[in-house]
Parts: sequence; structure tokens; C-alpha cells
Amino acid sequence: MAPTRILDGKAIAATVLDECRAEAAHLINLGTVPGLAVVLVGDDPASKVYVGSKVRTCHELGIHSRKIELPAATTQDALLEVVRSLNADSAIHGILVQSPLPPHIDEEAIVRAIDPRKDVDGFHPENVAKLALEDPTGFVPCTPAGCMKLLETAGIDTHGAEAVVIGRSMIVGKPMALLLVSKKANATVTIAHSRSKDLPAICRRADILVAAVGRPEMVKADWVKPGAVVIDVGINRIEDASKKSGFRLVGDVAYEEVAPRCAAITPVPGGVGPMTIAMLMKNTLQAARQQRA
Ligand code: GUN
Repeated sequence: MAPTRILDGKAIAATVLDECRAEAAHLINLGTVPGLAVVLVGDDPASKVYVGSKVRTCHELGIHSRKIELPAATTQDALLEVVRSLNADSAIHGILVQSPLPPHIDEEAIVRAIDPRKDVDGFHPENVAKLALEDPTGFVPCTPAGCMKLLETAGIDTHGAEAVVIGRSMIVGKPMALLLVSKKANATVTIAHSRSKDLPAICRRADILVAAVGRPEMVKADWVKPGAVVIDVGINRIEDASKKSGFRLVGDVAYEEVAPRCAAITPVPGGVGPMTIAMLMKNTLQAARQQRA
């Protein structure tokens, strides 16, 4: 079998970010400094890292960013008030409230409070509908958008392909399935999940397998059809005493055993993760462009 292609998300994201840097400069020339607000509630260590990378990337591109860190005890009303003030702030074109939120806050209520024109996560019902309708004025959730960009840039043909998405979240699984089945990609899509009967057998049908479940190394070698393309969305911390941090990152795919069977696979880290941030920057620029019009 041909050697496995490692899909380098970091390199592909860098080319997307170059385009974003140019577009940010163009918008600034026209008198609009694109602005992103990132709201973090509580002190989940992984969320802190993600929010830090998002803000740093804005800085690198010349996008204005505002990081709002709130204590875990913040009430839902107080968070709604923060969202409303960002909705009304003309220096802010994109608003992202980092998930997960503390359990006493209803995430759905927060997402619905975000002005859909500033919803760069693409989680507001209006943007979910636009994705289903294939209306390009909507925002596509960053992680699935990043997976599609990765496939497209790597020249992987989705047309007529059998795609299986494991996971049905509103952040990844469902939007990923909609993108794959869209008229642009034309895949035949199955959404599998924790209650699916014989998950390994479903996965073995896939020409393109997308794992987005959040279970470390769940997808084993015998779940994968030889020659398949495997996109690993998982970023799981597992204990590793040999690391200074005390943990290492693994995906939802048992990489060492799966990689030799595939035509192509994304590594963790360095696969989907960097693409997610790049697509967030793209969405922020789309928001700034559309709010100018
Ligand atoms: N938590 C994990 N992924 C995401 C994301 O794409 N957006 C937000 N807001 N929170 C997340």
C-alpha cells in the first residue's frame, strides 16, 4: 500500500492565515478594524489555552481582540448582559463565548442572545438554518469548516464518497454532516453516535471517516477501511507522568494502529486544531465585511 499521507493542518492553516492577514489589512485600509470578543467563564485549563491561542492569532493578523474573563460563579443574567453590550459595540464584529460553560448557565440561552450577524461560532439557530439552506451569508461552525478546508486543500475528493461522522454535537458532528452532504461536497453521509448499533461496522463503510466524540483513541484499526481518509477532531488530555505538564494530547483515533491502514490521516495535535482557529479568523473577517455593507 502507498505510504500514509499525514494531513498537516498547521501548514494549511498558515496559508489560510496569510489570506486573512491580507484581508484584515484591506479592511483596515477601508476604515474598519475587524474586532473579535472572546468570553471565557471559569477556569477550565483547556479552554484557557484555546482562548489564549484565539486572541494571539488575532494579534498576529492585525485583528482587534477583546478577552473577557469572568469568574465561574458568574450568573446567567450577568453573562447575558455582557453579550448584549458586545452586540451593541460597533468595534466588535464577532462574539465567541467559549464552551463549555459552568453547569448553572444555559448555553442555549446565551447562544440565542448573540446577534446572529456577530455569531462567528455559527451556533445561533439563524446560522444553523443558513447552513442547512446552504446560504453563504451565514457563519459555518469553525471546526467542521476547518475539516472541509483541510480536505479541499489536500485535494481529497468528497463527491460520491461514503462519509461517516461519529458524533452528533451542534459544534462538530451535525454541521460536519451538513457540509459533507451539501451540493458543494456531494458525499453520502451517515451520522453515527454512542447509541448506534455496531459502530465499528458502520465506520468500516467509510471512505472518509470523521471522529468527533471526545473519547481518547476510541477508533481502532479494524474500524477503518484500508485506504480511507481519517479526520480526527478529538483533542483529549490523558495523563502522562513523563511530560512536564503531566498530560499529553491524543485524538479520538488510535493513531499508531490506524495510520498505517489509511490513505491520509490528521495528526493530534497539528491536524484539525489549527484549522479551527484559522476558520474563526475567516469568520471574523466575514462578519466585519458584512457589517460594513
Ligand atoms: N469549545 C470547543 N470548541 C469550541 C468552539 O468552536 N467554539 C466555542 N465557543 N467553544 C468551543
